[in-house]
Amino acid sequence: MSPDTTTSPTTALLGIYKKPDILFVSGEGAWLVAEDGRRYLDFTSGIGVNALGHGAPEVLGAIREGLESGLVHTSNLFRTEPGERLAEELVAATFPSQVFFCNSGAESGEAAFKLARRWAGTIGGKAKHRIVAFRGSFHGRLFGTLAATDRPAYREPFEPLMPGVDFAEVGNLAGLKKLVTHDRTAAVIIEPIQGEGGIRVVPVEFLRELRALCDEREVALIFDEIQCGLGRSGRLFAHEYAGIRPDLLMIAKPLAGGLPMGALLAAPHVAAAIAAGEHGTTFGGGPLVAHVARVVLRTITAPGFLAGVLKRADRLDRSLREMASRSAVVKELRGVGLIRGVQVDGDAQAIVMKARDLGLLLVAAGPDVIRLLPPLNTPDELLVTGVERLEEALS
Ligand SMILES: Cc1ncc(COP(=O)(O)O)c(C=O)c1O
Repeated sequence: MSPDTTTSPTTALLGIYKKPDILFVSGEGAWLVAEDGRRYLDFTSGIGVNALGHGAPEVLGAIREGLESGLVHTSNLFRTEPGERLAEELVAATFPSQVFFCNSGAESGEAAFKLARRWAGTIGGKAKHRIVAFRGSFHGRLFGTLAATDRPAYREPFEPLMPGVDFAEVGNLAGLKKLVTHDRTAAVIIEPIQGEGGIRVVPVEFLRELRALCDEREVALIFDEIQCGLGRSGRLFAHEYAGIRPDLLMIAKPLAGGLPMGALLAAPHVAAAIAAGEHGTTFGGGPLVAHVARVVLRTITAPGFLAGVLKRADRLDRSLREMASRSAVVKELRGVGLIRGVQVDGDAQAIVMKARDLGLLLVAAGPDVIRLLPPLNTPDELLVTGVERLEEALS
């Protein structure tokens, strides 16, 4: 694509993003290329979206193929094949469930809350409507998901948000038991690996205790795997490390290779509680995005792919540890697979900016954590290059 002739930042866009003044014009694998020809190693993957890298042949091929049918969109008034097949394939790859397709992560969260409330209402009536979320959580920017997001700066300007949300501490089972009640709680929502909250891996024992508590009190357990799911943790879903299943599973980001798509998987008992007409969306599960998502899912679940992610993660881990051992500012290394956090003694955003000057793109996760989300197929040597640039930025 040729760059626009006017490359100074426009004032026509709503000023909600602080973007650096770099205009990207193309991408290739783990690289993004700016209009001046400078190449940046992209360890953001579009915040966990470009799991197969930029310009992935599988994704580009699937987009072309999907377009050939002439069906980009029909709405959910009518049946189309790719969404039906994709739903079956997602269910086959996860747990018995039914799928609702939407267009973003936050929308899958809103749907999760509606389904959970609908199901809980069949047990405890209107009183059983409360949602329990966790400190450090991020579930989205819409009124329901924002209410379950523990970020005062994101929440406060827009209050009142959706009422009925309580916050618990990860790891504090006694506190959780007080908040989660049979009579009042509809759902508990948790990211098995907290992303925005600083790449915090929730211990598998706690996830199992949560599962048991939700079963005992007839509460829907929602896993938000929008950032950590679909291969990023080295498993198809991070909750697989705990050997348990949620009642509702939120996915989005990498699902359609960079095209907007989200999905909510609902276990049969929850899915059965909602009737035709009670929820919906115009674009969700359209034939083009669903066709591309089928190819992405097939790629990530192909034999050897996840083993490759774990192998690359080991290489990244080794480099990060070596870097940490030499650094006076690294406080903690976090994460699994290719979702990693480097907690620093200092301002993460300043380091992100410094790394950018050195040709490495990173994103902060809170005030003192640098997040690394390289494409899942990044070659070892580029993982090492990325850590070298990060080390330079840290120094
Ligand atoms: C864990 C998690 N949940 C929900 C969301 C919201 O997704 P979206 O921005 O697509 O609405 C995000 C986005 O970063 C996320 O990381």
